[in-house]
Amino acid sequence: MKDTRFARFVVIVNGAVPLALLCWDAYRHQLGANPVNFAIRTTGMMTLILLPLSLLVTPVKKLTGWNWLFPFRRTLGLYAFFYACCHFTLFFGLDQSFDVSRTIGEMVKRPYLVVGSIGLLCLIPLALTSTKNAIKRLGSKRWQALHRLAYVAAVAGVVHYYMLVKADVRQPIAFAVVVTLLLGFRIVDAVRRRAARESKISAA
Ligand code: HEM
Repeated sequence: MKDTRFARFVVIVNGAVPLALLCWDAYRHQLGANPVNFAIRTTGMMTLILLPLSLLVTPVKKLTGWNWLFPFRRTLGLYAFFYACCHFTLFFGLDQSFDVSRTIGEMVKRPYLVVGSIGLLCLIPLALTSTKNAIKRLGSKRWQALHRLAYVAAVAGVVHYYMLVKADVRQPIAFAVVVTLLLGFRIVDAVRRRAARESKISAA
């Protein structure tokens, strides 16, 4: 098995760079006229970039046979969860002053917040079951079924972004195309595997 320690180190460091830059710019008051909104949007964008990246690992692994890529799915997935938590905490903490009733009021007024919350809620069980122990405890079949929530989180993230964008929807649509292709690959792959299984059974 290929030694991926250095490559994983590079991914872990690069995953932390956007947050480090955001903190550095915040420290130097370089986040513009609305620093809280800038920080919310930056962490939201990082979540939406990291989610499809983590979903990209399996298709690439299947197409190339690069099994050594597998651990990167977990690293990227946990980073997506981390940035989603930062994103929500910045909103709930700095924008809504940890005021639960006010936040609920905002969610009623801005439905895209509800869609974003569905995405975040889907990521929580995935992060909690990302350890080897959890896979053993759940069994790989149930674990894989649970981790299909990653697709729901990705779709919710794209819809959340599309709903909040006022004018130019090109970026949300680009993310929608990427997520659709990633889901499409999985559906085609599942259909193929089923057909192969059935033809094996009928040949037996
Ligand atoms: C999987 C979960 C989520 C993803 C992928 C996500 C992603 C994003 C993205 C891409 C943006 C826009 C960034 C930009 O304009 O550059 C954004 C903005 C925002 N998100 Fe999320 N988000 C998620 C969950 C949430 C949650 C749970 C909340 C709060 C309940 C939330 C509140 C916001 C707010 C307030 C904005 C800024 C809107 C504005 O500028 O008008 N998001 N999010």
